[in-house]
Amino acid sequence: MNAADLTAVARQLVAGDKGLLAMDESIATCNRRFAALGIPQTEPARRAWRELLITSPRLSACISGAILCDETFQQSTAAGAPFTQVLAAAGILSGVKVDAGAVYLAGHPGETVTEGLDGLRARLAAYVRQGARFAKWRAVIAVGDRLPTLGCIDANAHALARYAALCQEAGLVPIVEPEVLMTGGHSLSACRDATECVLRGVFDQLQRQRVLLEGMLLKPNMVLPGLGCPAQETVDAVADATVDTLMRVVPAAVPGIVFLSGGQSGELATARLNAMNLRRETRGARLPWALSFSFGRALQHPALELWRGEAANVIPSQQALLHRAACNRAARRGAYGPAMDAA
Ligand code: 13P
Repeated sequence: MNAADLTAVARQLVAGDKGLLAMDESIATCNRRFAALGIPQTEPARRAWRELLITSPRLSACISGAILCDETFQQSTAAGAPFTQVLAAAGILSGVKVDAGAVYLAGHPGETVTEGLDGLRARLAAYVRQGARFAKWRAVIAVGDRLPTLGCIDANAHALARYAALCQEAGLVPIVEPEVLMTGGHSLSACRDATECVLRGVFDQLQRQRVLLEGMLLKPNMVLPGLGCPAQETVDAVADATVDTLMRVVPAAVPGIVFLSGGQSGELATARLNAMNLRRETRGARLPWALSFSFGRALQHPALELWRGEAANVIPSQQALLHRAACNRAARRGAYGPAMDAA
């Protein structure tokens, strides 16, 4: 894929107020979420859940792309249709998580580096042959006493940039995901400082590795206080801190920013995204990139709680997914209000 094609796909993923459905939890993470709800932790149960998600009627009204893990990427519906073909038929682009997960970073207690570069070129070529149009790699950054360190930021930024360059070489739009975690008691300003530092490091490495900024998407955290911080901030304070931080460090050439939800409730993640997009209108602060969503838990969790592994619950569960997707689509226009959820 050439530069024009990469740019077109990156733009398509954020066009029309749509966003991404992140459904690429690893087998271990998916099993953990199933266990919490008493759902069997088996391959057939994971397959059934992912089939429920991608066959939700009218999903493509709000969702432009779905991110799958390798297991899901290879799976088919009960009727035998490959998931990637079901998505393509619905007009939804298929993406795939290609990192191999985070491991402890030597010499850096409490920090991790994401692995998966070895053999990546060949794996990307195989995913392209199977219909992938974009990919994802997640780096995980902890905030704490003297964390994150520069060693952790450098190692993760370098890996993200090597991954992104390999994706573009293969013809895949890279989603670059450096996640500053919500875990901990840190303040909003600590998250802001960490996020700014991480994003500076990431864009520095992306440019050194000659990544086409127009042909990628950034998937960052929102700038938030840690879950254990006594001072939880208002929706507007989070929206302002997030947009201000991104304005400082994300080049205008990047077509879109697609937030992760990171453990926020569905309603809060939507309200914060809405406030960021509203800010553009009320403050006259025109933003250079689309501000969209690539939520996992904030889209799936209400639906998973309704499903609980029971075939009889498929339709209400799909309705819950579609409702959250519609709320987030409205948030892209600054048109979401709590009344949408009350109804
Ligand atoms: P959450 O929205 O649940 O954080 O998941 C997004 C994701 O893709 C994490 O890698």
